[in-house]
Amino acid sequence: MDIKDRPIGFFDSGVGGISVLKEAIKLMPEEKYIYFGDSKNAPYGERDKEEIKELTFKAVELLIDKGCKGIVIACNTATSAAINDLREKHENIPIIGIEPALKPAMEKNQTGKVIIMATPITLRERKFKELLNKYGDNKEVELIPCAGLVDLIEGGKIDCSETEKYLNDKLYVFKDKKIYAVVLGCTHYPFIENKIRMIFGENIKIIHGGEGTARQLQRQLIKEGIKRDRNCKGEIIVLNSKNEELIELSYKLLKLK
Ligand code: SIN
Repeated sequence: MDIKDRPIGFFDSGVGGISVLKEAIKLMPEEKYIYFGDSKNAPYGERDKEEIKELTFKAVELLIDKGCKGIVIACNTATSAAINDLREKHENIPIIGIEPALKPAMEKNQTGKVIIMATPITLRERKFKELLNKYGDNKEVELIPCAGLVDLIEGGKIDCSETEKYLNDKLYVFKDKKIYAVVLGCTHYPFIENKIRMIFGENIKIIHGGEGTARQLQRQLIKEGIKRDRNCKGEIIVLNSKNEELIELSYKLLKLK
């Protein structure tokens, strides 16, 4: 098979990376995609780094065995724990990661505080600290570790009062502060964007790394000469380590606005 016709592998600790896959499909509907969510082992954000690395390596091997021509680590936690080692091990295949979108949030901000929501480990890792040093200089930043939020989303509790209460407990104190933007540093969080707007108002700027990651994937495929032609018919296959319901939830999230 022509390498261009091989699929692109997407990996996340669960259903969250679907928010990144959606952006890739918008940009490159002609590609074939295999999405693997490791919901059986989610959430990764409260595990230790060695464990996360091991799980991520296994998932990437599964996608490579399925013939993927490129891999997207659509999980902030797995990217911060494993991306450098992964690239070292699989140097013949492009591996794209995701990181909290601090650059767009910080560069234009003259007016207020930036809230960054992510898993505890993403905020603790060196990769994030480097990003903060690079873009957060002299800026007002509030880091919000959101332990437990991935569990709610994995449980399909996207439109429910439990998630609303969780977010109110974390964010309500900032409601009347001057907030410039909220950065979603976990790929699960875009699915509860409307709940965050309920707290800060419709016009709050909410930024996540999905679109930037999809563009980076496109650039990489072009550079390697492995992007499919525009008139090809795309395809999406979803796999999940836990059960069928999570596969159904993934397809449902793919269709969500
Ligand atoms: C998790 O599994 O805890 C979160 C995934 C992410 O950081 O995107």
